[in-house]
Amino acid sequence: MEAEPCGEAPLAHGNPAVLAEIGAGLLARRPHISPKYLYDTLGSRLFEAICELDEYYPTRTEAAIFAQHGEAIAACVGQGVSLIDLGAGNCAKAASLFPLLQPQQYVPLDISVDFLSAAVAGLQQRFPAIAMTPLGVDFSAGFQLPEHVHPQRRVFFYPGSSIGNFSPPQAVALLRNLRDNLGADGGLLIGIDLVKQSSVLDAAYNDALGVTAAFNLNLLRHVNRLAGANFELRQWQHCAYFDEAASRIEMHLQAQCDVSVRWQGGERQFARGERIHTEDSYKYTRSGFRQLLGSAGFEEVQCWTDTSCWFAVLYARAVNR
Ligand code: TRP
Repeated sequence: MEAEPCGEAPLAHGNPAVLAEIGAGLLARRPHISPKYLYDTLGSRLFEAICELDEYYPTRTEAAIFAQHGEAIAACVGQGVSLIDLGAGNCAKAASLFPLLQPQQYVPLDISVDFLSAAVAGLQQRFPAIAMTPLGVDFSAGFQLPEHVHPQRRVFFYPGSSIGNFSPPQAVALLRNLRDNLGADGGLLIGIDLVKQSSVLDAAYNDALGVTAAFNLNLLRHVNRLAGANFELRQWQHCAYFDEAASRIEMHLQAQCDVSVRWQGGERQFARGERIHTEDSYKYTRSGFRQLLGSAGFEEVQCWTDTSCWFAVLYARAVNR
């Protein structure tokens, strides 16, 4: 996820759909706030800072895999494909592959199309031979690629283990939708975070400097602005842990004392220790992810990992269903 193009909140204060969503989440038996509200301007900056932390291994581990195995990855995917980048943001990850991959067409998808267009304008100058067409799409909602995306040799690029922020059934639905947008010669280049010692996982989401805590708490600050809520940040604490049975990191905000919160159109009491769920981050084994791919109509062709096997980049091809 990347910073927003211009300054403040992406969604206007008091937007009825946003108010309804936030209110319903806060009033639910197990209160929750959508992780999309983590990424206001400050939130996006804090996430960039998280990616620099010693404890947060995913970003740099994936980058090291692309740096070390770039040629093998390009040989496997093949040159001249239509590369469709999911949640492209500033397009930097895909751009680092262009010299080796030499796609014929580059189609970055992101909810924030203004930010995307600015990034693509710069990139097009550097790579004039690649046809670039940014699209403002929420690909998690189910979508169909427009006809100007070449139907042959489409390859989806989905790095960063973002697939892990969906539950396994949601992930299968998303991957099936990708499969439905591919011909028999299509593929998927995807990054996934692997199951590992829980101490490593717990540390990645509980850094010593407290950046992750600030990132999670900033969600309340954003909700105060979006929904006119009166969350007192000091009354809440970041809480993240690996649930081994569910194979996921759960992120929550926990009330430090009895708290009463109001927002435009609602209010709720939280008892000390009660939590608001903010995000899950599923971790996969290689075989577990292979199964998931299989149920979505893909088959793993090749997989690259770092020396500790903490993260994997894999290429899967579409299979006929
Ligand atoms: N998508 C990131 C991940 O799963 C988001 C993230 C990192 C996050 N640290 C967090 C979300 C702390 C909420 C709280 O790794």
